[in-house]
Amino acid sequence: MLQLQNIIFKVPASDSGKEPQSEQTIINDVSFTFEQGGFYAITGPNGSGKTTIAKLIMGINALTQGKIIFNGKDITSLPINERSNAGIVYGFQHPARFKGTTFRDLLSISLGSDDEEKLVNIISRVGVCSMDFLDKPVDSKLSGGEIKKIELATVIARNPKVAIYDEPDTGIDLWTIGPMVDLLKREQKENNTTTIVVSHNKTFLEAADTLLLIKKGKIAYTGDLAGAMPMLEDLSVCTFDELCQGENDAQCYR
Ligand SMILES: Nc1ncnc2c1ncn2[C@@H]1O[C@H](COP(=O)(O)OP(=O)(O)O)[C@@H](O)[C@H]1O
Ligand SMILES: [Mg+2]
Repeated sequence: MLQLQNIIFKVPASDSGKEPQSEQTIINDVSFTFEQGGFYAITGPNGSGKTTIAKLIMGINALTQGKIIFNGKDITSLPINERSNAGIVYGFQHPARFKGTTFRDLLSISLGSDDEEKLVNIISRVGVCSMDFLDKPVDSKLSGGEIKKIELATVIARNPKVAIYDEPDTGIDLWTIGPMVDLLKREQKENNTTTIVVSHNKTFLEAADTLLLIKKGKIAYTGDLAGAMPMLEDLSVCTFDELCQGENDAQCYR
């Protein structure tokens, strides 16, 4: 359904800060097929290339080599807006805040309508129970959890065929993660949305049908969480420790 065919992404060395090579390979020959309606988690150490893969799918970065095929059509050279119109939607790790804009404004743009009933339908799907929330300004006063709800709502409102969420658990508390996973699972099941979540969070990794472990710009493993565990534990020695707050941090999958 969404096929990555031998994708390669290189940057000039001056951009990556690494000398003396003339270029740095960020994504190194990745091939994978995301099936319609599947729930995928992409995990791996910081800097391994997870966000870059998401941006290549979305067209924010252009491939150096390889192809991306979506429902049989080569979308490799399509710009972001055309990929978005085709149903590929990306939720940012750090959503933008817009002074002077309300949640209602943003949601209406994503929906393509300001119909009250449609807006209520979307906010109830992301677990917002108060209509007042619609008129909140999307500015720096929002909490991490609130801005994430807004981001999820704007993705869902676009009725995506493929929804890509980059670390949707960033900045939200432990108690919000379970409901967020349930929400994305419900959207996946009810709308057959292919859901791709970049995350280190155990709850997301457990929720996924298939897990992709990225190491140094390559796929080091694809399969279920049980099969990935030895490799994740291996990585935790040097990398995942840095991501965990402490021994008892339940978000950490040690
Ligand atoms: N456009 C770019 N120019 C230079 N370096 C980049 C660019 N995009 C990503 N990188 C580098 O590629 C590596 C992978 O980045 P990223 O995909 O954001 O990692 P992850 O999301 O796995 O933490 C990092 O070292 C990052 O600095
Ligand atoms: Mg990232």
